[in-house]
Amino acid sequence: MKTGLALAALLAFSAAPAASEVQAAASVDANAAGVRIAPELYGQFAEQLGEGITNGIWVGEDSPIPNIRGYRADVVEALKALHVPVLRWPGGCYADTYHWRDGIGPRAKRPVTLNHWWGNNEENNAFGTHEYFDFAELIGARTFLSVNVGTATAGEAKDWVEYVTSPSRSTLAGLRRANGRDKPWKIDYAGIGNESWGCGGNLSAEQYAPLLRTYGTFVRQDHGPKIVAVGPSGDDYAWTEEIMKSHDKFDFLSLHYYTLPTGDWARKGAATGFSEAEWLATFAQTRRIDEMIARHSTIMDKADPGRKVALAVDEWGTWYDSAPGSTALRQENTLRDALVAATNFHIFQRHAERVRMANIAQIVNVLQAVLLTDGARMVRTPTFYAFLMYRPFQGGSALPVQVESPRLSAGATAVPALDVTAARGQDGSILLGLVNVDPDDSAAVDLSIAGVRGRRISGQLLTAPAMDSRNVFGAAEEVRPVPFGGARWSAGKLRVSMPAKSVVVLTLK
Ligand code: AHR
Repeated sequence: MKTGLALAALLAFSAAPAASEVQAAASVDANAAGVRIAPELYGQFAEQLGEGITNGIWVGEDSPIPNIRGYRADVVEALKALHVPVLRWPGGCYADTYHWRDGIGPRAKRPVTLNHWWGNNEENNAFGTHEYFDFAELIGARTFLSVNVGTATAGEAKDWVEYVTSPSRSTLAGLRRANGRDKPWKIDYAGIGNESWGCGGNLSAEQYAPLLRTYGTFVRQDHGPKIVAVGPSGDDYAWTEEIMKSHDKFDFLSLHYYTLPTGDWARKGAATGFSEAEWLATFAQTRRIDEMIARHSTIMDKADPGRKVALAVDEWGTWYDSAPGSTALRQENTLRDALVAATNFHIFQRHAERVRMANIAQIVNVLQAVLLTDGARMVRTPTFYAFLMYRPFQGGSALPVQVESPRLSAGATAVPALDVTAARGQDGSILLGLVNVDPDDSAAVDLSIAGVRGRRISGQLLTAPAMDSRNVFGAAEEVRPVPFGGARWSAGKLRVSMPAKSVVVLTLK
């Protein structure tokens, strides 16, 4: 059922027949200087969990699955197309049990360890430091290590940084060379632990803050990585207050927020076969992050008015019920996930001044993955295509946008049917992203774009027959972008006619 915030929109709806057209409007200020969209906003996260890395990224050099030095060739090729700006590793909860020395040297001699948080699975450590940095180089991603605070020492973290980055003749740098890598790598970002309020040690903010200062001191080093402090879970504003007291000791504050259709961890909701009500509830849940970012930012502004410290939403995405007993966190990925991804891109871009990194959980086979593999087979998920469509926004300048949209009721809350983002691309083109979450009705959106008239339009559309349409192994893709011809200039405005449950990205040149 639709409810209107604006009376005009409400009346338009009550008068409209069942399968009607959503009428919405947006204005974009293309004269504004805009705020840089850090490419890292489109980042990824890979944890040693389920088949996220083993089988998903890494199959080993001897595998019959085509590979490049052990990394799946199909996965590498697909990820290169996304221009993955940054890849966070090795966790996640796994990070706080990970000892980096277990993952270096001849693979046959690496110890078998247990993956404490994820089913106590045996981990042969075949994918370790060299494999991570080599893989990041292969796909062109910046590097982001989460260091172990929960079960290791600041010294262990310091040694890891030295091993990876030192050009010297120190014993650790020599060990790296002996293990096959002469040139140091760069660590772009280092997370000081993960979820220290939970799996990272169940600490209070007061207990974590001194650890952050100590580990940060030894990890940062000269020309070292930018430091990412463990930030709040969702709407824990008290955590942000406390950690921001040490704001001169770090560069990013992380924020973790997962979208559960029901908002209930005991019964999250199904990945497929859900109702319209659950579809809308998912968008209501995902949009909660907008307010969270705004409120955390306000708290951060008090300690750091110059906005030197950024927010890194370094875990986000959908999380559905998995098979009973399974710890692999594998889930299906449907058209709904693509619209959730696009909605989040819009929110992050709206807050681009503060949000300068975001890492979806997780890159392959885990939660809202961009790729799924099954033996030698791989599919690009609807979420993959959302990332692909929004790729041109990386490094652009976010422009101010006002949207007037009717709202769709989602239980106790209501979600706008339409959402719009805009940016000036690095080549000067104007980029527009539009999401219509109405599961039934198409939308007509009138865009006034100050400073832009009559430019040549090209576009792409992502939609599918059902809310839970998805791409399955061994069949033609059901959800993939197609050229879009539904936008035209009329009386100085851009009118976009888009189908129900769809995403459109337009380029105006
Ligand atoms: O992404 C899955 C898990 O979610 C991560 O290990 C943890 O950081 C979070 O709770």
